[in-house]
Amino acid sequence: MADIPWTWLLIRGSGITTWALLTAVVAWGLLLRSRLLGSFAPPQRLMTMHRWLGATALAFLFVHLALLLVDPVVPFTVPQILVPGMAPWETLAVALGTLAMWAMLPVMVMGRLRSRLGKAGAAWFKRAHLVAYAAWPLATAHYVMAGTDALTEWSLALLGAGATVIVVLLLARGFVPPPARPAPARAPLASTPSAAAPAPVTPAVTAPGTEQASTREPALSTL
Ligand code: HEM
Repeated sequence: MADIPWTWLLIRGSGITTWALLTAVVAWGLLLRSRLLGSFAPPQRLMTMHRWLGATALAFLFVHLALLLVDPVVPFTVPQILVPGMAPWETLAVALGTLAMWAMLPVMVMGRLRSRLGKAGAAWFKRAHLVAYAAWPLATAHYVMAGTDALTEWSLALLGAGATVIVVLLLARGFVPPPARPAPARAPLASTPSAAAPAPVTPAVTAPGTEQASTREPALSTL
């Protein structure tokens, strides 16, 4: 144990922590998009947790990468970390980690910029969020292929637990209908003198179960 470089232990620890956090980010995102927890977990709280987990995963990823730069056994350079296929060790396995990183980063950046960019910001955020879905499978493949103990019992148990959570929530999302969206465009029209039809918005907002939908909309807009 005394011969094992501390950097190597920390690279592994930070890698596994990043993976676990990334799994939690995806799980919280899926919970947010489905009605699975109902009123037990308000959307705004799920949203806050989803964002906090994402930021924490990113922080651990930076630790994982910073340690690679100072590791005395297989030191990496910045281009070897940033460009897939340039790693001096387990090139394919590490390339998958780099791709996972590039899948994660745009959504983090767009999350900060979207409110300043107006409509275009919302569209770019949506695209970046779609790309982020690839991060989890890529990071999982990276873990399995690069992890020293990836195929040991405890690690397989962790991987199995994470994968089960994601698959169950994906299935639940498929089976549980998404919450009804309010009709925001009709409200101002209905209040104009020329509008003949009665305003249809009020009952939709106050109908049973839609309190969640109405509070949910602003929360999801920051997803
Ligand atoms: C979302 C992104 C990433 C996640 C979740 C992640 C996670 C992990 C995990 C779980 C391990 C296995 C630890 C072990 O049990 O040995 C690992 C190992 C490793 N990762 Fe990453 N990683 C990510 C990105 C990267 C990137 C961008 C690089 C560098 C280009 C990288 C380089 C490595 C290396 C070299 C190892 C092997 C460490 C060793 O066992 O000596 N990773 N990573």
